[in-house]
Amino acid sequence: MTERGNFGTKIGVVLATAGSAVGLGNIWRFPYMTGQDGGAAFILVYAVCILLLGIPGMVAEFVVGRHGASNAVRAYYKMGGRWWSAIGYMGTVTSMIILGFYAVIAGWCLQYLVASFMGNLHGDANYVATYFKTFSSAPWQPLLWTIVFIVITHLVVIRGVRKGIEKFSNALMPILFVLLLVIVVASCLLSNAGKGVEFLFKPDFSRMSQSVLLDALGQAFFSLSLGTSCLCTYASYFSRQTNLLKTAGQIACVDTLIAILAGLMIFPAAFSVGIRPDSGPSLIFITLPNVFQQAFSPTLGYVVAILFYALLALAALTSTISMHEIGTSFFYEELHISRRRGAIIETVVCCAIGVLCSLSCGAVDISLFGKSFLDCCDFLTSNILLPLGSFFTCILVGWVVPRRVVKDEVSNWGTLRVSVYAVWLFIIRFISPACILLVFLHQMGFV
Ligand code: PHE
Repeated sequence: MTERGNFGTKIGVVLATAGSAVGLGNIWRFPYMTGQDGGAAFILVYAVCILLLGIPGMVAEFVVGRHGASNAVRAYYKMGGRWWSAIGYMGTVTSMIILGFYAVIAGWCLQYLVASFMGNLHGDANYVATYFKTFSSAPWQPLLWTIVFIVITHLVVIRGVRKGIEKFSNALMPILFVLLLVIVVASCLLSNAGKGVEFLFKPDFSRMSQSVLLDALGQAFFSLSLGTSCLCTYASYFSRQTNLLKTAGQIACVDTLIAILAGLMIFPAAFSVGIRPDSGPSLIFITLPNVFQQAFSPTLGYVVAILFYALLALAALTSTISMHEIGTSFFYEELHISRRRGAIIETVVCCAIGVLCSLSCGAVDISLFGKSFLDCCDFLTSNILLPLGSFFTCILVGWVVPRRVVKDEVSNWGTLRVSVYAVWLFIIRFISPACILLVFLHQMGFV
């Protein structure tokens, strides 16, 4: 058996796992979903979903991961036997596909970082929209940025668990937080910013609908990295002293806080310049450069734009590191090759997917079922594979694994007092599978 790394410190565990959770999902997806789904009411439902579905689901994945102390495929095998290793395979494949398309969007952030630095994003609203369309549908530039992003991820991952993942997350997460706070303060000081804050915190229950509920559930999945075996893989590096329930709670808090801060960064500025909050996924790439120019003085706008895209790229990096680690640890341990070689296989596969995703954004017509290849990958993973992965994990931990094993993991072999154990177990046995099934059926168009 190969020697396995471990996270060295308690704070390292939390920061690395929070680094995985915090990413484009918080800073790009959460604000645009909030904008589309009516603001505060959506946030309220989202918070309930994190509490009811997210935290218990995370603990279930942690139980499998720490118990297995190996890559996800082996961990599920050790927990439930041969058939259950399929969840590990599914998570490993899912993470490769997500890394492929996620790196395309992360690559756009790098391009925007450079463009902001060179002052190339300066112009009126039409200019910015055309800039985005021309750039994202060009063949070479976005493709190169995609590969650059995957290679940067590769370079961090091959340094190993403690020297690579933990060290980088420890450094990047606090930087990210400070950068975010700086932009939030700048944004909230703008005239009319109060309207944006009100939009975020004063619920308008007339906007509450079934689709808000289900969108919030789906967003909670993606944002916490639930269902990809990512949390399971990171938990395999936890020590026997790591408190699983507390860690899950802390990560969910950090993740939600960053998402809310992202909202506080975007909406006050958007309201201040009269830009509609519901402009969708293009919010960051088309709307925000306008916001930066119109809302701040030229010098401040220039600095804020650079800070923002740097922040987004950093947040994406700590997430891509975690996705990469799933495949790397699988190839390394299952094929009995060096960690370096395992990482190379993962990088090559993800680059291939990333290249197709990038080209499908306009340069080449690569479409399946009437969607671009990138949209297909996004749909297949977020809408099908993530809910499936988490659903089966809850079934495995809640119904299949002997109760003693589960209790030992959650209570650190009886050394922790876990008063909420019974509540958690009830949730993962009944509530979570039912909710996940609902999200799944909705996303497949059945509900
Ligand atoms: N949670 C990450 C984000 O919010 C995305 C992610 C999904 C990361 C699945 C790892 C696995 O951006």
